Amino acid sequence: MSKKGRILSGMRPTGRLHIGHLSVLENWVGLQDSYRCFFFVADLHALTTAFDQTGNIRESIRQMLADWLAVGIDPEKSVIFLQSKIPHHAELHLLFSMITPLGWLERVPTYKDTVLQHRERGRDITTYGFLGYPLLQAADILAYRADAVPVGEDQLPHLELCREVARRFNHLYGTVFPEPRALLSRVPMLPGMDGRKMSKSYANVIELAATQKELQGAVNSMITDPARIRKTDPGHPEVCTVHKYHGIYRADKLSGLEEECRAGQIGCVACKKTLGGTLEELLAPIRARRESIISDKSYIDDVLAEGTRRAAEEARLTMERVWPKVFKG
Ligand code: TRP
Ligand code: SF4
Repeated sequence: MSKKGRILSGMRPTGRLHIGHLSVLENWVGLQDSYRCFFFVADLHALTTAFDQTGNIRESIRQMLADWLAVGIDPEKSVIFLQSKIPHHAELHLLFSMITPLGWLERVPTYKDTVLQHRERGRDITTYGFLGYPLLQAADILAYRADAVPVGEDQLPHLELCREVARRFNHLYGTVFPEPRALLSRVPMLPGMDGRKMSKSYANVIELAATQKELQGAVNSMITDPARIRKTDPGHPEVCTVHKYHGIYRADKLSGLEEECRAGQIGCVACKKTLGGTLEELLAPIRARRESIISDKSYIDDVLAEGTRRAAEEARLTMERVWPKVFKG
C-alpha cells in the first residue's frame, strides 16, 4: 500500500507517561500503517524551560520511549528518534530565526501564559530560547516536510506559526516547504484521583507502568460521592471520579453499575474493585511488553540509533533543497 503522506509528532521527555497519554499514543499507533511516520523526543525543547535541570533527561527519555514502544509505536513502521541528535533541526531553526518577526513569537498565546506560570514558581524563562520554542517546533516539522502533525488542541497556535513561517520562507526564497496541517486528535479529559485533570504537576497520575497493586491503590484513593456513607445510601455517580472512568473504559457495561449506584445496591469498594479489574485488563499487556523492552539493555538505544540514521537522511535531503534557495548561485 502506498502511504498517504508524512506525519511527524513529538513529545518533550517527561519520563514515564500516564494513562491520560494513552489515547494520544494509540492515535499515533493507528497512523503508522497509512502514513510515513516520524516520532521523536523533543529533548531540546526540554532545555527551553529546564536548562539548569538536565541531570535526569536521559533517564526520562528512556522511560518515555519504553512507554511508546510498549503501546505499539513500531520501529519497523515508524522512524523514532531523538531531536538533539539531528543537527539539522538547529540549523533550520537558525535560518527561520532570521525571517521571523519578534512580534509573531510574542503573540503566540502560550508564550505569556507559560512565562507567568513559571514566574509564580520563582523561575524566569524569558530567554531567547524559550521565546523561540514554537520556531524550533516549526523546524522539527519542516525538516521532514511533514504534511500533517497529530497534536492536541493546545498546540494549534504552534502549528499556525509553523505554517506562517513555511509560507514566508517559500515566498522569500522559493518553495521548499508544504504547509502542514494539524491532525486534531480528540483526547478525552481524564481526571486524576483527586478529580482534577490528570497531570504530573498535581501528583494525581496513574502511570502506564503501574503494577496491579499500584493500580488498585490509585483507584481506591479516587474521590467518590461524598454523600454516601453506607453502601445502601443512594449514590450520585455524576459527581464520582470512579464513575467517569467506568464511562471511559467500559461504556458498554456502564448502565448496570450506574443504576446499582443510584439505587444503593452496590458499595464503592466493590465498584472500585471492578474499575481496578478493568484497568488491569487494559494495562497488563502494556506492562508486560514494557518490562521486556526495559530488560533488554540495548534495545532502546538500538531503536534510537537506527531511527536517528533514517531521520538524519531525510532532514539532510531537506537541507539540500534549503541552502541553495537561501544562497543562490
Ligand atoms: N510542543 C509539543 C508539546 O509540548 C512538543 C513538540 C515539539 C512537537 N516539537 C514538535 C509536537 C513537533 C509536534 C511536532 O507537546
Ligand atoms: Fe462512585 Fe461507584 Fe461509589 Fe457510585 S458506587 S459513588 S459510581 S464508586
